[in-house]
Amino acid sequence: MEKLLIEGGKRLSGTIHVSGAKNAAIAIIPAVLLVEGVCRIENIPQIKDVEVIVNILKFLGAEVSYVEQDVLEIDASCVNTYYADCELAKSMRASYYLLGALLGRFGNAKVSMPGGCDFGSRPIDLHIKGFEALGATVTVDRDVVIATSEHLFADSVYLDFPSVGATINIMLAATRIPGTTVIENAAKEPHVVDLANFLNQMGAKIKGAGTDVIRIMGVDKLSGGTYSIIPDQIEAGTYMIAAAAAGGDVTVENLIPKHMESLSAKLEEAGITITEMDDSIRVRSDGNFKKINVKTMPYPGFPTDLQPQIVSFLTRANGTSNVIEGVWESRFQYTDELLKFGAQIKIEDEKAIVHGIPKLYGTEVKATDLRAGAGMIIAALMAEGFSKISNVCHIDRGYENLVEKLKNVGASIRRIEE
Ligand code: UD1
Repeated sequence: MEKLLIEGGKRLSGTIHVSGAKNAAIAIIPAVLLVEGVCRIENIPQIKDVEVIVNILKFLGAEVSYVEQDVLEIDASCVNTYYADCELAKSMRASYYLLGALLGRFGNAKVSMPGGCDFGSRPIDLHIKGFEALGATVTVDRDVVIATSEHLFADSVYLDFPSVGATINIMLAATRIPGTTVIENAAKEPHVVDLANFLNQMGAKIKGAGTDVIRIMGVDKLSGGTYSIIPDQIEAGTYMIAAAAAGGDVTVENLIPKHMESLSAKLEEAGITITEMDDSIRVRSDGNFKKINVKTMPYPGFPTDLQPQIVSFLTRANGTSNVIEGVWESRFQYTDELLKFGAQIKIEDEKAIVHGIPKLYGTEVKATDLRAGAGMIIAALMAEGFSKISNVCHIDRGYENLVEKLKNVGASIRRIEE
């Protein structure tokens, strides 16, 4: 079994380059199903989730090739099936975007139910509500979702919660429906905006992405073109927190500082020195920092996908921090693993009470999911001695070249087989 071996206590110094955004890539790649012609997509991260969604498109019959290491060309014109009820689709949660994309292309879709990170109930009722509002009939047959329609029509959809997945899926389904579809209480995450920008670049007419109300004026046809994916907000945030936690002087480059505002503000509140530049952020820390309180919220709030990393960081803060999870019902299971480093964390419903201590100790833990895995790495970087982290496959789903990137700034980290 592959593990990460980390010796903690090393000061980090240098520059880390952020890759393209995972969550944008895995929405934009299936969106190509709506396009006639070749889409050239740049800044594609080399991660497992992208490999899976690319393989699903190939399975459907799309022509896909890497023309450079991070540049994909996809022509999905020849796809003539809406059946994506395959094992591959089961292996990643975001395969639910195939529902919106196939429905938008063929008026029908059959997709295996997603797996992905396991943090409590992950319903898709809002996606279904959206599809139904546009005239589809949706049934769930064990692990397969089937959406059918005779005639899709534009309508208004109000989301009870600004769900990222539902917003993206409704956008995908509605892009080619005549008339104006309106999504109210839409998610405003950077990758929602990135998908809208991609679709607009290919000829769609989508307005308001990044605000509460998105208007999609349906077009007959989307044509091929070139698009470059935004930098990964969560990858950037993970390295900013790692630098703050381990101590050192690290510049995280190729990011959009605006996307990092909620994190930068919290790190500054903890006493970390943050310097924003055009497309990079310098993080300086002497490894001593204060307690802070954090509540995760939809964008522009503090991202839930940085919650395990910030909890991990706060295990060594001076004082007791409260971290409230405001997006997912149950996203603190991983804290049992953090306790093995000696951390003192108490969970009360949706709140983690993190009592900061001066020292963590190296140990053996497992990455219980993608971002929890990032949290374990941050704890291991702070801990005295060696740590081993198993279930590396979760981390590989979302971080490109993580070991090399951390090594380059002075971390002692490597992959081992045990
Ligand atoms: C996306 C991200 C994920 C991140 C999350 C919140 C991708 C591939 N994944 O997930 O990493 O943690 O946004 O920023 O982009 N909900 C419902 N019904 C639905 C859909 C969601 O009740 O139909 C609830 C969920 O249970 C959760 C909340 O809405 O409590 C947020 O979910 P959502 O924004 O949809 O997350 P995802 O798109 O699945």
